[in-house]
Amino acid sequence: MALHEKLAAALASREKRLIRRRLYDPSADAHLVDFSTNDYLSLSLSASLRKRFLEKLQSSPHILGSGGSRLLVNGHAHAALEARLAAFFHAPAALLFNSGFDANVGFFSSVPQPGDVVVYDEHIHASVHDGMRASRVGTDARVAFAHNSVAALRRTLERLVQERPGLASGENSAFVSVETLYSMDGTLAPLMQIVEAVEELFPQGNGYVVVDEAHSTGVYGPQGRGLVAALGLENRIFARLHTFGKALAATGAVLLVTPLVRDYLLNYARSLIYTTSLSNANIIAAECSFDMLEGGEAEKLSAQLLDLSSHLATTFRQQLSKHRIPSSLLSLPAHLSATSTSRDPTCLPTPIIPVLTPHPRPLSAHLRVRGLNARPITWPTVPKGADRVRICLHSSNTKEEVDRLVDAMVEWAESWQAAQEAVKKESERSSGPGIVQAKL
Ligand SMILES: Cc1ncc(COP(=O)(O)O)c(C=O)c1O
Repeated sequence: MALHEKLAAALASREKRLIRRRLYDPSADAHLVDFSTNDYLSLSLSASLRKRFLEKLQSSPHILGSGGSRLLVNGHAHAALEARLAAFFHAPAALLFNSGFDANVGFFSSVPQPGDVVVYDEHIHASVHDGMRASRVGTDARVAFAHNSVAALRRTLERLVQERPGLASGENSAFVSVETLYSMDGTLAPLMQIVEAVEELFPQGNGYVVVDEAHSTGVYGPQGRGLVAALGLENRIFARLHTFGKALAATGAVLLVTPLVRDYLLNYARSLIYTTSLSNANIIAAECSFDMLEGGEAEKLSAQLLDLSSHLATTFRQQLSKHRIPSSLLSLPAHLSATSTSRDPTCLPTPIIPVLTPHPRPLSAHLRVRGLNARPITWPTVPKGADRVRICLHSSNTKEEVDRLVDAMVEWAESWQAAQEAVKKESERSSGPGIVQAKL
């Protein structure tokens, strides 16, 4: 088969299995209420952020391009932002990357050494997988543990320490890779317990927790500094990733590490070395977003956002029960199936609410007709049997919009059930005489 035939066959196979990815028609989304993007704080719509950004652009001597790799050109603006972020996040050093994807690939491909292990939450982002694959860590030393299960993490680490003398002696290292807020499930990591487990199992200090705050940056913690800051864990985390493309409405990412690790990454992280660094306009945009965080505006927006999340979960639960919608058709995941009264930070509301259904595409299509944009998520992005419509909330969404969304989902479930019932009756009716005839 020639190349183009192989490529076309692969796409056709995806089409047949209903997993072909496509770009959305932007004009079709224009008038829909946004329950889909990662713009959690709605900063992309903020008039004050826009004004600040335009003013800074106007007054900056350099705005276009950056001229080349960070290692080759004057990165004055980049270095200034890094110094600011190290101070803001209470970290010893900071290093910018062009994206969170590049940062994870750069870190995991270079920092773990031969003989080390990487233990990761089974729902960890694709970029960590790509980094690990390019690393010098063997496939048998890259081990997943059950999502958010501290018990499973402990078992995995204990087994690895027993099997590998270098881990017990401290010669080799164990990296534990987790996210704070998981984007497909809307679950928060039990970060404190994870850190405690790693510290206990690696008394020599060779257990290193690496935390990806892509979805929690701006949303949690004082001034939106993330879950690590909310828990006061800054000094116990080996590396932290904050990305600028989601709640901060900008582009790029920062890794918070020690000066030694920063220097090492500058020498070995290929996704940093062999790429043109962020343009000056990108740096200015990120600076303006962090102005919003430092000024306390993000905290207010985040409070609104999380209030909306509680409202959605409560209203949806009530409506599902009132209309007796079977959970096999529409349900919330276990962590949202009851109101949490816990003060544990991992029980906080989150801007991501997955609605589980075996029919995510028809549900999403129905919502579109009702003017609401929430996307279907299916295998292979989530495990088989865990299909869903993922709702992403934003500070600018209103309670009325959320109520409309809940009503539309319940309406869909009822009409789906009615249609199924009609099909069943019809097939009973048409097969009825057949059975009678067969008996005669
Ligand atoms: C958990 C996580 N980490 C990293 C990334 C990559 O970040 P960026 O969009 O800045 O490349 C994403 C984005 O999808 C993410 O969800």
